[in-house]
Amino acid sequence: MLRQVLTRIEQADALDGASDKLQAAVSSAVRPRTLRDALHGSWMGHPLHPVLVQVPVGAFLSAAILDLLPSRSRSSAPTVLIGVGVAGVLPAAVAGWVDWSEMTKDRRRIGLVHAATNLVATGLYAGSLIARLTGHSTQGRALAFAGLSVAGAGAFLGGHLSYAQGGGISHAAPEVARVPEEWTVAGSLASLPEGKPAARRVGDTAVLLFRQGDEVSALVDRCSHEGGPLSEGEVSDGCVVCPWHGSTFRISDGAVIHGPAGNDQPVLPVRVRDGMVEVRRP
Ligand code: FES
Repeated sequence: MLRQVLTRIEQADALDGASDKLQAAVSSAVRPRTLRDALHGSWMGHPLHPVLVQVPVGAFLSAAILDLLPSRSRSSAPTVLIGVGVAGVLPAAVAGWVDWSEMTKDRRRIGLVHAATNLVATGLYAGSLIARLTGHSTQGRALAFAGLSVAGAGAFLGGHLSYAQGGGISHAAPEVARVPEEWTVAGSLASLPEGKPAARRVGDTAVLLFRQGDEVSALVDRCSHEGGPLSEGEVSDGCVVCPWHGSTFRISDGAVIHGPAGNDQPVLPVRVRDGMVEVRRP
């Protein structure tokens, strides 16, 4: 039943009109690249949205536990926690919308319902906060438990978007496990162009090799954002720019410099022996 619901949402092209308009609105509202990078989490090499989400989730869950205590043990703590949770929704939502605006259509459909569900949950919690502050504690608790139920459905959709649809995860990380553990020849040093990315294979994995003199760097070739071929990208200032959506990674350590990627690009140990370039799993 749950799978059927998810499949229906994924295939609901009726959502695409609203989705496209919202995507354009988010893109024009958050235009500066530095701001988009900050909200993607590029500065820490990890998506920011799931980090910010911990504030409302933790506050709402803690409030629910305190609300279940006998009335004599209750204090104003649940009200404070719900206030913190409602305030924490805004930054988490802004980061989530920016991630969402650069996703594929099927992911945006799930993301749209995830956001709508969380909007309803936030409304219920805001109602709970007002009820508690005006002395209607029973209604406040009822609204908070309703909000928690709806937020649970929103979290389920968010989990599906991340783990089943691969929105926000690193598409490069699984490649690392396929690189041989032992040093493996990727090609000769002489065959690598100077200062340009070159695609080679190590075992089953495509790797990007970048040569500067006798120094060689190796990265997983599959872009962490959506799997684009980094070796086909331009190199400038020691960084490679993905040809698909423009994510920019520092070649020396794989750090993401510009999104939409939120995750760093895995680098691989590399050495040169007898004129041959060898790579292995970290
Ligand atoms: S696949 Fe999207 S930036 Fe590389």
